Amino acid sequence: MQRFETKTVVITGAASGMGRAAVHRFSQEGANVVALDIDEAGLKETVETLDPARTATQLCDTSDEAAVKTAIDTAARTFGGIDILINNAGIAVQGDVETTDFETFRKVFAVNVDGYFLMAKHAMPFLLKSGGAIVMTSSVSGIGGDWNMLAYDASKGAVSNLVRAMAMDYGPRGVRVNAIAPTATKTPLAEGTTEDPEITKAFMDRLSIRRYGTPEDMAAAMAFLASEDASYITGVILPVDGGMSASNGQPRQ
Ligand SMILES: NC(=O)c1ccc[n+]([C@@H]2O[C@H](COP(=O)([O-])OP(=O)(O)OC[C@H]3O[C@@H](n4cnc5c(N)ncnc54)[C@H](O)[C@@H]3O)[C@@H](O)[C@H]2O)c1
Repeated sequence: MQRFETKTVVITGAASGMGRAAVHRFSQEGANVVALDIDEAGLKETVETLDPARTATQLCDTSDEAAVKTAIDTAARTFGGIDILINNAGIAVQGDVETTDFETFRKVFAVNVDGYFLMAKHAMPFLLKSGGAIVMTSSVSGIGGDWNMLAYDASKGAVSNLVRAMAMDYGPRGVRVNAIAPTATKTPLAEGTTEDPEITKAFMDRLSIRRYGTPEDMAAAMAFLASEDASYITGVILPVDGGMSASNGQPRQ
């Protein structure tokens, strides 16, 4: 499939995990890709096998408005506009309301929420011109709660409703906004979960498709939502979760 020929896609969190898989997926489907992250070595590794004429990288802390503005303007200048934004960079910390200090809470929101807002805000003038689309990485943790993930769950809940609010505002103006909601996926962010045998056993009891998600599963869903195949879909938080959210929570017997 070459659904993104002539399209320019900006992807955050592109040095690792789902963001890296998304860079490869959009590139395979013909897009010009601009890969953003704070991890220079990881970015280099992401793009090393890709065509340099259709790929650009830029160091960008997505929670820093000046850095975001520079990155977006550079991306648009490099490839003559922006068609798709993939808001994906994120961090996760554990803790409940007693054990999470305010600084940590604010840091999680700075990356997971402020960063998504800032990227969307500065990309929007270009997306309005191109009639583009945004896909954000929420989480099953942006649909329901986890144990001991207070700041993360609150931030992903905010992402889910940021998507719905933007879908309302920009549908009439030709820009679609959706999210994927992954369950535990085999990336560095979730290694504490996916590499732990006991947690993994508990997960497999809840996953109808009995394996963890892969970054490639997530990139495929991002590409679908960003593509014309999803031309009548906006404001959706799409679970990409092996059936996790199909369960009512009752244990397997
Ligand atoms: N892995 C999972 O189980 C899982 C499940 C649901 C949702 N998610 C979400 O998926 C997204 C991608 O995570 P991943 O699992 O690929 O993790 P990852 O740690 O492999 O990748 C995240 C990337 O974001 C980058 N990043 C962090 N802070 C940044 C900042 N301020 N500016 C720019 N880049 C920054 C990191 O350097 C890293 O390259 C995140 O939003 C995460 O919350 C992950």
